[in-house]
Amino acid sequence: MSTPKPIYGIIGFPLEHSLSPVMHNTAFKELGVDAEYKLFPLQEEELGDFFADLREKDSPIFGLNVTVPYKEAVIKYLDVLSPFAQKVNAVNTIVISPERKLTGFNTDGPGFLTHLIELGFQTGGKRVAILGAGGTTRAIVAVLCLLPERPASIKIYNRTRENLGQLLGDLGKRLDVSIVQPADSIDDLDIAMANLLINTTSVGLKANDPGLVDENLLHKGLLVYDVIYNPAETRLLKMAKKKGAKTSNGLGMLFYQGILALQHWSEAELDEDVKMIMRENLQKASLEKK
Ligand code: ATR
Repeated sequence: MSTPKPIYGIIGFPLEHSLSPVMHNTAFKELGVDAEYKLFPLQEEELGDFFADLREKDSPIFGLNVTVPYKEAVIKYLDVLSPFAQKVNAVNTIVISPERKLTGFNTDGPGFLTHLIELGFQTGGKRVAILGAGGTTRAIVAVLCLLPERPASIKIYNRTRENLGQLLGDLGKRLDVSIVQPADSIDDLDIAMANLLINTTSVGLKANDPGLVDENLLHKGLLVYDVIYNPAETRLLKMAKKKGAKTSNGLGMLFYQGILALQHWSEAELDEDVKMIMRENLQKASLEKK
């Protein structure tokens, strides 16, 4: 009997806009690996059965990504958590061994950091302002707080103050968040004094969404990083460009979290040529998905 083709994939809901299949199926093709990356759109009540099936000896699934809204919910189904995933308390990558042991990682934080380094931004002593307090902020704050070159401050504003309080309370149990300060308003973010402004909210996904902050707060000394990559340039990024700030969308973060996930599954460094083709295909697909 021939062994079935290894399957990888992403669980979350909804998933139709996910660019992960393009990236990983490109990698399998370029590496000459006979494997496939699939979408697993799951309802919450289906998670238990899905994870029970993963334990079966004949399951063809050897690796998963996890996205909204299950990055915390999957933790209870795993055997081992990487030290960083423990700190973040959220998992976006699962490795399933041939013995069906499940290990959870978080590559969102390192993915963001790798892109930040690529952009030439040095974190040590810098002032960071963040809009939003969801799962992405959780990973970004954790990675910034754990750096040897920590920022001087991280100020966060969120529409719902209570969600921000919960996030900081939970992260504070796991790591030193003394550089993080909740802001009561956008004014309290002190954007005029900041070096890095990050938007992790979903505001900007729609063409007529507002820019979130007053344009006059944006300035030349700022890198404005919007984790949204479709549209490639949100209103916030357009305003930032106009004001002479450096800008980036989140496609680089998506790319690097995917590269790091693939490296966990294959336990190998990826060839630079393969990475380049993955990035090109990701870029193309992000422009096609409107
Ligand atoms: P992700 O994993 O991408 O961070 P998430 O965990 O669902 O996604 O978080 C979404 C973030 O966008 C939250 O900070 C949310 O704010 P609330 O805590 O107030 O819900 C923010 N957000 C979503 N829609 C928003 C809007 N219209 N205005 C401001 N913030 C918004």
